[in-house]
Amino acid sequence: MPNLETCAPLVVARDFNFFYGAKPALHQLALDIPRGKVTAFIGPSGCGKSTFLRCLNRMNDLIDGTKMTGSLRLDGKEINDPEIDVIDLRRQVGMVFQKPNPFPKSIFENVVYGLRIAGHRNRTFLTDACEQSLKRAALWDEVKDRLHDSAFGLSGGQHQRLCIARAIAVAPEIVLMDEPCSALDPRSTNKIEDLINELAGQYTIVIVTHNMQQAARVSDLTAFFYEGKLVEVGETETLFTAPRCKETEDYLTGRFG
Ligand SMILES: Nc1ncnc2c1ncn2[C@@H]1O[C@H](COP(=O)(O)OP(=O)(O)O)[C@@H](O)[C@H]1O
Ligand SMILES: [Mg+2]
Repeated sequence: MPNLETCAPLVVARDFNFFYGAKPALHQLALDIPRGKVTAFIGPSGCGKSTFLRCLNRMNDLIDGTKMTGSLRLDGKEINDPEIDVIDLRRQVGMVFQKPNPFPKSIFENVVYGLRIAGHRNRTFLTDACEQSLKRAALWDEVKDRLHDSAFGLSGGQHQRLCIARAIAVAPEIVLMDEPCSALDPRSTNKIEDLINELAGQYTIVIVTHNMQQAARVSDLTAFFYEGKLVEVGETETLFTAPRCKETEDYLTGRFG
């Protein structure tokens, strides 16, 4: 295990606060997300995990009355700088949701969707990008003979891998996965976990999960959120075996949550 402290972080939050109207949802967050690693966010429902993910690609902009204060940087740039190109930011910050959301299009068109939006038209380029992304998402062998069939013909687990292929096709800096396995059966969940392990190193990944074993299996670093605060963050093995805070220990041992 490399020393995570020495990796230059991709995301840096400092004194970061987030509000829905007057209601604070994230409080004085200080967090570094290392490059090329898998970081797991754990914590009970409603503690702000999804809110924080949505801050990273400014999806909360779509909700009226939200406010952010403090610093949140991606690759050194303030995410909330009014000068930032939000379309470009969303290309850099890929997102995979709890419920797979393939578009009503062919498998091929789902994967190259973001590339088309970015203006790519060259057929060979799109075909190559589609193949590469599906291979990286461990879906190529299952779909290579039916790329132009509707994506709706795939299973739930395949849908989620398709959504991962679509997210990585545009070469994002970071891929955010918000409970990506909670709608999947155990076998599909295993495949997604294997895939996360494969992608680690090439991509920076943040995964929100309610499954402690999953966090332990796939992540290098774990961050425990509670009531809008980041209680503790550390190397996954250390956090699980020797948490520093009593709240973390109580959560890990199932005393609440
Ligand atoms: N669109 C919204 N408007 C107002 N409050 C919200 C909204 N989304 C989430 N919240 C509130 O923010 C807090 C954090 O929610 P969320 O980030 O979804 O938590 P988690 O993902 O950890 O379950 C909760 O109290 C939730 O009710
Ligand atoms: Mg959530």
